[in-house]
Amino acid sequence: MTVTKLDTNIHTQISTKLHPGFGVQLQPENLNSGAAAEILYRHKLVLIRGLKFSDEASFLKFSLNQVEGANRAVEWDFGSVMRLEVRPAAKNYLFSREPVPMHWDGAFHKEPRFLVFFCNKLAAENPKNNQSGATLFSDVERLWRDTPAKQKTRAMAVKLQFLTEKKAHYGGQIERSLVEDHPYKNDPILRVAEQVRTERNPVERTVWPQTDQNRELVHGFEKSLYDEDYLYRHKWRQGDLLIADNHSLLHGRDKLDDDVSRELWRVQLI
Ligand SMILES: [Fe+2]
Repeated sequence: MTVTKLDTNIHTQISTKLHPGFGVQLQPENLNSGAAAEILYRHKLVLIRGLKFSDEASFLKFSLNQVEGANRAVEWDFGSVMRLEVRPAAKNYLFSREPVPMHWDGAFHKEPRFLVFFCNKLAAENPKNNQSGATLFSDVERLWRDTPAKQKTRAMAVKLQFLTEKKAHYGGQIERSLVEDHPYKNDPILRVAEQVRTERNPVERTVWPQTDQNRELVHGFEKSLYDEDYLYRHKWRQGDLLIADNHSLLHGRDKLDDDVSRELWRVQLI
C-alpha cells in the first residue's frame, strides 16, 4: 500500500469506536494525505487493522508519515524500532511474559508525543487463547476531569519519584508532579505511573510528601486506571497497528500466556 498520512476528513468516516470514551478504528483505505495529529489529540488512540510491512524500515517510514508535526522517532541504542518479544533470560521485564504496569513512555529518557505499535507476528498453540497479553490503555485526561474538586486540590501538591537501574535501554531517577498539563493540549493529565514489582528490574516509586493520605490518594487513582470508564484492553490480531497519545493515555500489558508467541514492533514519535 502507499505510504500516506491520515486525513482529517476521516472524522466523517470513523465508524468504529474502540471504547466509549476514546479510540477509533480507521480503515486502511481511509488513509490519505493530510494531518492526523488532530485526530489523535481528539480520539487519543487510532487502530488500523490488516497491515503488513516487509521490514522494520518500512514500518518506521509508515509511522513517520502518519502524524504531521511528529516526524522524528526517538533513537535508542537499538535504533528506533523496538522488537517487543519474549527473550530467554531477559534482564528487563518488558521482554518477558510478565504483566506491565501502567506507565507513559520516555520518563527516563525523552518523552515522545505518540507511540506506534504493530503486531508483526502472533501465534497461539490454542487459538482460543491468543487473547492473553492485551495492551492496556487508560485515559488519564478523563480520569482527572472526573476527579472531585477536593481530591484535585490535594493531588496538585503531590509529587512522585521513580527510581530504576538501567538494565535495558532506560534507567535513572526522576521526580514528577502527579498532575501536569498535556504539553500540546494544555489539558491537565495525571502522571500516575505504577510501581513496577518484578524480580528483573523493578521501578521503585515514592510519593511526596510522604503521608498516608497522599499514598491513599495515589492508590485510589491507580485503582481507577483499571475502571471500565477509563480502560481499553486491546486484543491483538496480526497486522494491527495502534497509534497512541503518550500523554493523554497511560499504557500497560496483561500477562502473556506460555502458549502464545508474539512479536510487536514499537516506535516513538516526537
Ligand atoms: Fe511503554
